[in-house]
Amino acid sequence: MQDNSQEFWNNEYWKDVIDNNKADFIQDSWMEKYIEEINKVECKNAIDLGCGIGQDTKWLLDKGFDVISCDFSKRALNKLEELIPNGKTMQIDIKEKLPFKDNSVGLINANLSIHYFDMENTIKIFNEINRILKPNGLFVGRVNSDKNEEYIKEDTQEIEKNFYYMSGRYKRLFDKEQFDILTKEWNIIALNESITVRKGRKKALWEFILQK
Ligand SMILES: C[S@@+](CC[C@H](N)C(=O)[O-])C[C@H]1O[C@@H](n2cnc3c(N)ncnc32)[C@H](O)[C@@H]1O
Repeated sequence: MQDNSQEFWNNEYWKDVIDNNKADFIQDSWMEKYIEEINKVECKNAIDLGCGIGQDTKWLLDKGFDVISCDFSKRALNKLEELIPNGKTMQIDIKEKLPFKDNSVGLINANLSIHYFDMENTIKIFNEINRILKPNGLFVGRVNSDKNEEYIKEDTQEIEKNFYYMSGRYKRLFDKEQFDILTKEWNIIALNESITVRKGRKKALWEFILQK
């Protein structure tokens, strides 16, 4: 089993991280550099979409947000509840209609959790996030950049532009052109390429802060 299924995230990725104590990447406070913008959010309720075991949930709680942590891996959510006893979790599939009301959320974070989908679903996800955010609310997150050229191996298949089936997984590598399409309805507060180290590997990423 090696795809973007719930089983993969539950029984491979998070099982390995949790059972083998590989959660050292969790110390990455990447949102800190955008604290000024994040502090301006008036309504202090947040959703951490694809929260994993909660590195960003913890950061947002520390900054005074009331956070609902959403993921479809029950194993990750159970670990989050163990690490953050006051954490509120919800098991959802990001590709489905988000179970929140229109104009109801101050901030939505999606850190490394929305680069697994074809463009049709990616556009749907951006639209859903836009629907549930309050006017002036922030959508913040990080996604893979197309600068990760080493990801592309001989057996990598390009399913559509920037969307690949690689080493048994679907992955989207974003470029500026895709952001131009995805952010037409948004006010771009920040859009930066950066390098991080995750699970011992360098990763090129786009960081974004978008305002509804
Ligand atoms: C690379 S991890 C990032 C986790 C966390 N945001 C972090 O920074 O540590 C990607 C997360 O997205 C979740 N995920 C992937 N596809 C999803 C989907 N369709 N619906 C909900 N969660 C999903 C996975 O279960 C996983 O926890």
